[in-house]
Parts: sequence; C-alpha cells; structure tokens
Amino acid sequence: MKILYLLLLMSMFLYEGRLSAQSPFDLPPLPPSENYGDIVIDRTAKATKGTPVYFSHWVHRVKYTCRVCHYELEFSMQSNETPIVCDNGTMKGRYCAACHNGKVSFGPKDEDGETCSRCHDADSSSGGRKFNELQNRLPKSRFGNGIDWSRALNDGLIKPADSLSGEVRELVNVRNLVLEAEMRGISYAVFPHRTHEQWLDCSSCHPELFNIKKKSTESLRMINMIRGDSCGVCHLRVAFPLDDCKKCHPKMRNWGGY
Ligand code: HEC
Ligand code: HEC
Ligand code: HEC
Ligand code: HEC
Ligand code: HEC
Ligand code: HEC
Repeated sequence: MKILYLLLLMSMFLYEGRLSAQSPFDLPPLPPSENYGDIVIDRTAKATKGTPVYFSHWVHRVKYTCRVCHYELEFSMQSNETPIVCDNGTMKGRYCAACHNGKVSFGPKDEDGETCSRCHDADSSSGGRKFNELQNRLPKSRFGNGIDWSRALNDGLIKPADSLSGEVRELVNVRNLVLEAEMRGISYAVFPHRTHEQWLDCSSCHPELFNIKKKSTESLRMINMIRGDSCGVCHLRVAFPLDDCKKCHPKMRNWGGY
C-alpha cells in the first residue's frame, strides 16, 4: 500500500502539468457546463440513418427527480439501452411519451404542427439563455453544470416532482456513511444517504452497485469510478463529476490547486 501511495504521489508530480483536470487521475474532459449531462440517443437512428435525438438532463432534473425516469419509467442509466419506440412520431409507447403527449409537455404534433425536430436534432443545444438564467438563479458549484443541485433542492429553489402521479414518498433516512480509504494518507470519503434518497430509489444502487453493508463492496475504488462504474455511474456524466474531490473527500488537501 505504501508503495502504491508513493507511486501515486510521483505520478501526480509528473503529470501535474499535463492533465487538464490537474488531478492524479486521468479524468475525461468536461463539456461546457450547459452541455454537461446531455446525451445523444441514436440506437435506431444509427441503423436507419434517421436523425439522432438530443436529451438534456438539466432541463428535466429541474422538474423531476431521477427516480421518475430511472425507476418509474425504467429508463436505463446507460445511454442507448432503452428500447424507446417513437413509431414514426405516433409515440404511443411509454418512455418519452409518458410526458411528451401534448399535456405534460409538447407532443410530436401540437397546434403549431409537428415538433419532430425539437427532439430529433443532435446539433441543437439545450444551452443558451435558458441555461444562463437557471445557473444565475441557483447556488454555484465548480464543475459539471456549475450548479450545486443538492443545495438548490434543499433551499427549495427547485421543486422537482418525485413521481408521475404526484405522490410524495416518505424518506426512510438511512444513516450517512464515512468510508475510510483503503490507502494511507488519503482522507475518508462521505456518502450521504439522504441526499441520494431525495433523488433516487434504493434500487438504483442496491444490490447491483453496492452491498447493503458498509465497506463490503470491492468495486468501491476510484479506478472503477473513472471507468463509469461504482459512484462513477452518476458522478461522471450527470451528478457532479469526479473532478470535485472535496465534495466526497471533505478533508482532502488541495490537489493541483483545488
Ligand atoms: C419527445 C421527443 C420526440 C419527438 C417529439 C419525436 N420523436 Fe421520434 N424518436 C424519439 C426517440 C427518443 C427515438 C429513439 C431514437 C433512437 O433510438 O435512435 C425516436 C425514434 C424515431 C424514429 C425511428 C424508429 C421509430 O421508433 O419510429 C422515427 C422514424 C421517428 N422517431 C420519427 C419521428 C417523427 C416523424 C416525429 C414528429 C412527428 C417524431 N419522431 C417526434 C423522440 C421523439
Ligand atoms: C425526464 C427523464 C430523466 C430524468 C429526470 C433523469 N434522467 Fe437520466 N436518462 C434519461 C434518459 C432518457 C437516458 C438515456 C437512456 C437510454 O438511452 O437508454 C438517461 C441516461 C442517464 C445516464 C447515462 C448517461 C450516459 O452518458 O450514458 C445516467 C448516468 C443518468 N441518466 C443519471 C441520471 C441522474 C443521476 C438523474 C437525476 C439527477 C437523472 N438521470 C434524471 C432520462 C432521465
Ligand atoms: C417525466 C416527464 C418527461 C419525460 C419522461 C421526458 N420529458 Fe422531455 N420534457 C419534459 C418537460 C416537462 C419539458 C419542458 C421543460 C421546460 O419547459 O422547462 C421537457 C422538455 C424537453 C425538450 C425541450 C428542451 C428545451 O431546451 O426546451 C426536449 C428536446 C425533450 N424534453 C426531449 C425528451 C426526450 C427525447 C425524452 C425521452 C428520451 C423526454 N424528453 C422525456 C418532461 C419529460
Ligand atoms: C446512490 C447509491 C445509493 C442509494 C440510492 C442507496 N444506497 Fe444504501 N448504500 C450505498 C453505499 C455506497 C453503501 C455502502 C456500501 C459499502 O461500503 O460497501 C450503502 C450501504 C447501505 C446500508 C448499510 C449501512 C451500514 O452501516 O452498514 C444500508 C442499510 C443501506 N445502504 C440502505 C439503503 C436504503 C434503505 C436505501 C433507499 C432508501 C438506500 N440504501 C439507497 C449506496 C446507496
Ligand atoms: C445512481 C446515481 C448516483 C450514484 C451511484 C452515486 N451518486 Fe452521489 N449523488 C447523486 C446525485 C443525483 C446527487 C445530487 C447532487 C448532484 O446531482 O450533483 C449526489 C450527491 C452526492 C453528494 C452530496 C454533495 C453535496 O454537495 O451535498 C455526495 C458527497 C455524493 N453524491 C457522493 C457519492 C459517493 C461517494 C458515491 C459512491 C459510493 C455516490 N455518490 C454514488 C447521484 C449518485
Ligand atoms: C463521488 C465521490 C468521489 C469523488 C468526487 C472523488 N472520490 Fe476519491 N474516493 C471515493 C470513495 C467512495 C473512495 C473509497 C473509499 C473506501 O475505500 O471505502 C475513494 C477513494 C479514493 C482514494 C484511495 C484509493 C482508492 O481508489 O480506493 C484516492 C487516492 C482518492 N479517492 C482520490 C480522489 C481524488 C484526488 C479526487 C478528485 C480528483 C477524488 N478522489 C474524487 C469517492 C470519491
């Protein structure tokens, strides 16, 4: 372990000038804050040469918690896995059509005609003025969307619906965890259950990602997170990214300047 740690420090020293994130890890580059959490859905478009669909997480998470889509509607947390069927714009299926039906939000056809290109437009950006207004209104954060989503929720600045039916869950309040690092000289990581419960369902993490017993999940290492597993399932692309060491390691000294 000691040797590993020394190696880590050495590589930090060597890489410091080279890595854009200035962290000891080779983290993926971050998009502009308005595009963080954006995904392109082209599962069928690729095969049929159709126009891919552009989906923005920040547009939707202002209005809904993750569990509405990833638990109730069963969207996968891996892009292009969900068998979304549009039926050439009839949209009878569940998925997007649960809301894009002309009632909750715009449907494929409304009084002004077809809206196909609002979704089928991989070049369009969800950014611009609407994003700037939102970012200015909400508490700031250093990485990702540049928005501190936890505080925005707790301060009541956003009120995402927690279910399609409007029902409100009772939070069960599982204790917050302090996870001691398996490496000397590295400060512990925190895992606040409550923060996650507010957005997610237990089944988003248990039992597939994490065991229901503290310090028993072997994959709980940075190396797996960087590959998009473990905490990195969300903290690489949608929730604040791994670059934000101090959010998880509150006692960590500043790596390469932060
Ligand atoms: C609310 C967003 C949304 C709207 C509005 C929309 N689509 Fe789609 N559409 C999708 C998604 C998501 C897919 C799946 C994309 C993929 O897998 O590549 C899709 C797939 C398709 C496909 C390929 C296979 C299939 O399921 O039919 C066609 C063709 C299509 N849409 C046509 C249209 C037309 C025509 C309109 C307008 C009348 C329209 N879409 C409106 C989201 C939308
Ligand atoms: C309005 C619906 C909706 C909400 C709300 C939502 N998501 Fe998603 N999410 C999706 C869809 C749709 C996909 C793409 C699924 C597919 O293509 O199979 C997706 C994909 C993802 C992915 C995979 C991204 C990638 O690049 O592969 C992650 C991670 C994710 N969501 C996490 C979250 C988290 C965390 C929240 C809450 C903060 C959240 N989502 C809220 C609809 C939603
Ligand atoms: C749980 C409900 C819900 C689901 C599911 C959902 N949406 Fe939406 N979507 C909304 C609402 C509500 C808005 C309007 C947000 C606003 O005006 O602030 C919206 C807005 C949008 C917009 C406009 C974004 C903008 O910049 O104005 C697009 C594009 C979009 N959705 C695509 C999709 C696609 C594609 C899917 C499926 C992969 C999907 N949505 C699934 C509720 C949903
Ligand atoms: C975002 C992911 C995530 C969600 C959502 C989540 N948990 Fe956990 N849970 C964890 C992690 C990580 C651990 C620690 C695993 C480890 O250290 O090996 C854990 C551990 C636990 C433990 C063991 C605590 C201990 O002291 O040993 C219990 C009990 C638990 N979770 C219950 C729940 C319940 C009930 C829910 C839903 C209300 C829930 N969890 C939602 C990630 C999650
Ligand atoms: C299934 C998705 C998911 C997984 C897995 C997940 N998180 Fe989160 N986490 C979130 C969301 C969503 C938030 C709300 C803040 C945001 O979106 O930036 C959050 C917030 C947090 C916060 C609160 C930060 C604050 O400012 O209050 C910490 C700390 C955190 N996560 C640590 C972890 C750790 C450690 C793990 C792995 C053991 C983990 N998370 C796994 C989705 C996830
Ligand atoms: C989403 C939360 C999260 C973020 C962000 C995060 N870490 Fe971690 N980190 C963890 C968890 C959880 C562990 C494992 C604790 C344990 O062993 O139980 C860990 C462990 C570590 C370890 C010990 C080796 C290992 O992989 O187990 C090092 C070194 C480390 N983190 C450095 C960093 C640095 C540097 C950053 C910022 C670039 C960072 N971490 C960002 C959650 C996070």
